[in-house]
Amino acid sequence: MWGGRFTSSPDAIMDEINASIDVDRHLYAQDIAASKAHAAMLAAQGIITAEDAAKIAHGLDTILLEIEKGTFTFDRALEDVHMNVENRLTQLIGPAAGRLHTARSRNDQVATDFKLWIRDAIDRIDKALAAYQRALAEKAVDHAATVMPGFTHLQTAQPVTFGHHLLAYVEMAARDRGRLADARRRLNESPLGSAALAGTSFPLDREKTAHALGFDRPAANSLDAVSDRDFVLETLAAAAITAVHLSRFAEEIVIWTSPLAALVRLSDKFTTGSSIMPQKRNPDAAELVRAKVGRIIGALSALLIVMKGLPLAYQKDMQEDKEGAMDALATLALSIAAMTGMVRDMTPDTARMKKAAGEGYSTATDLADWLVRNLNMPFRDAHRITGNIVAKATEAGTPLHRMPLAAMQAIEPRITDGVFEVLSVDRSVKSRTSLGGTAPKNVRAAAKKWLRKLENEGG
Ligand code: ARG
Repeated sequence: MWGGRFTSSPDAIMDEINASIDVDRHLYAQDIAASKAHAAMLAAQGIITAEDAAKIAHGLDTILLEIEKGTFTFDRALEDVHMNVENRLTQLIGPAAGRLHTARSRNDQVATDFKLWIRDAIDRIDKALAAYQRALAEKAVDHAATVMPGFTHLQTAQPVTFGHHLLAYVEMAARDRGRLADARRRLNESPLGSAALAGTSFPLDREKTAHALGFDRPAANSLDAVSDRDFVLETLAAAAITAVHLSRFAEEIVIWTSPLAALVRLSDKFTTGSSIMPQKRNPDAAELVRAKVGRIIGALSALLIVMKGLPLAYQKDMQEDKEGAMDALATLALSIAAMTGMVRDMTPDTARMKKAAGEGYSTATDLADWLVRNLNMPFRDAHRITGNIVAKATEAGTPLHRMPLAAMQAIEPRITDGVFEVLSVDRSVKSRTSLGGTAPKNVRAAAKKWLRKLENEGG
């Protein structure tokens, strides 16, 4: 189609390296929508006739149907989706098809199409994250008072509630959604009408095409508009952080479901067996979510490297922007869906959780706090005395709440039996009512607040 000055056809290897149709065919809906907007604008501006514009629109609608029915044949020799659609349009409507590309280049065309595609992908992922948050918040309401061990350094630290732990991931997902929303807001400027790089001599109405395609405004600089791939990079960066968050939770599921911890059980829906060991229940979905983050970060690094050092304006290098991004965003959507499914599926072993929560002297901080509060001791002294009591308890092999009062008084004579009230895990979590703390009443309120918020989004 651009062959006016070419006398021989490209080498087979040239076709092989040049063709992008296997990847950019996924832009067909966006390509057709953008072409329709462009043709309507050309007619409104008197650049093409209304009859030609009507033929073009009708032909493009036919092509959309053909592609969706699966009757359209993509031809690799036509390089990309833009040429495939235009070629078919020529077959369908004849010479009028040749007027569609007036005042347009594949450079502004592909930037426009891919922005629209990325925008749709952001919207899909945002919905999936909202469903994930809802599943977490619902579970958090059910388990607002379920006590589990909280860890730092993967060592038992202090008792927390399972609901509180789940809500931590709701907050992460909220920031993830915020990053995606920021990327969406910034990407929403239309490249269409920038043409190859310099703009065009035709009297375009770029506002009109921008608004027809749901953009906020046309991009201001034609050189920038055709060479900008920030929208892919930003979305991939947001996707990579989201995937990192999912991988952290996935890892926790792997740990929790291990017989060593046995804090949580996944049903047969989200586990697989072993072909040799009949007893196995492997958390494969969680392991795969943990692993798939590699592909998403990989796509971000790959595109950063593609873009590094590229001079203005369009360079063919940029054609490499789609494959990794499309794979990464599909992978992310699948990972979010898998995590949502696992959240709904998981059953905590509440008895085991409570027992584990009390192991490892997890209420030692509560003891120290009691000394501060009741004996008006500086926290540092309380910390040291509690350390001495823990050492003694460890030696005797007893948990803190089973230590004889006399043994504690041997270390700090002013301790009374009131201390036992704070040494249970239930009392411990109940006392942590500070803003953002793990107390069941905080957790219940926070979970319900999230559910109301998600409900109001209508998402
Ligand atoms: N397939 C190309 C891409 O995805 C479209 C733009 C090609 N432009 C060009 N002048 N060769 O980047």
